[in-house]
Amino acid sequence: MYKIAVSSFKGGTAKTSTSLHLGAALAKFHKKKVLLIDLDAQANLTTGLGYDPDAQDSMAPVFQGQKKIHEVVLPTSVKNLDLIPADTWLERIEVTGALAGDRYSHERLKAVLKEVNYDVVIIDTPPSLCWLTESALIAADQSLICATPEFYSIKGLQRLSEFMNSVSERHPFNILGVSLSFWNPRGKSNPSFLDIIEGTFPAKLFKSKIRRDITISEASVYGRPIFDVAPKSRASEDYIALTKEILKRL
Ligand SMILES: Nc1ncnc2c1ncn2[C@@H]1O[C@H](COP(=O)(O)OP(=O)(O)O)[C@@H](O)[C@H]1O
Ligand SMILES: [Mg+2]
Repeated sequence: MYKIAVSSFKGGTAKTSTSLHLGAALAKFHKKKVLLIDLDAQANLTTGLGYDPDAQDSMAPVFQGQKKIHEVVLPTSVKNLDLIPADTWLERIEVTGALAGDRYSHERLKAVLKEVNYDVVIIDTPPSLCWLTESALIAADQSLICATPEFYSIKGLQRLSEFMNSVSERHPFNILGVSLSFWNPRGKSNPSFLDIIEGTFPAKLFKSKIRRDITISEASVYGRPIFDVAPKSRASEDYIALTKEILKRL
């Protein structure tokens, strides 16, 4: 069972879109049994799969030891793709209930994932370096890094790299790769962005980049992946290519 944490510590780098479409493509085109975990209280992954956040349990009661992980798993419109939704209880959960006094609370996710059986678990993280993101990295054996071709996003990778090194000293994981979204193949600064990524995460940038495509946000309105809503779109093509590349590295 591969456990992939999708992170960037920033908002708007397509973490949620990448989690959803990597998961959906693995389930739909590669017959993998996939569990998506929405660990962001903003619950965009949950909404993107057609669920109303706060209408069902998230990982929050599982972290608190009140529910078993299999009790909070939901099916999705995609066969073989399950979801653990998010809700607002995830926000600052580490300071509430049983977690407040537990020095090792950030290892709970790793422990409960031993109770599920999937080919791939994909964990979508919040846009910051918080308890939830750290829990995801500790639980994961792979980390997928999301970035956009913008100066602050690319520069932020250096900080991300330092943080990842410090977590992986205690809980080793592999850096699966860096995925670029909102890609403009004709962007003037592309060569310098690619240089910085190569310097920070050598040989980790995926060849397949996700081009800017409005169908991604349109599909989330329908609560379905683009493979169902706009199968001929650029983004659909790009995510299929990225998924194949990721499978080769796993
Ligand atoms: N390749 C893309 N082209 C155009 N819009 C995109 C693309 N990827 C994501 N989006 C849109 O950008 C917004 C932020 O993406 P999201 O995946 O939620 O990022 P994050 O989870 O990192 O905050 C969403 O509205 C999403 O639909
Ligand atoms: Mg998100």
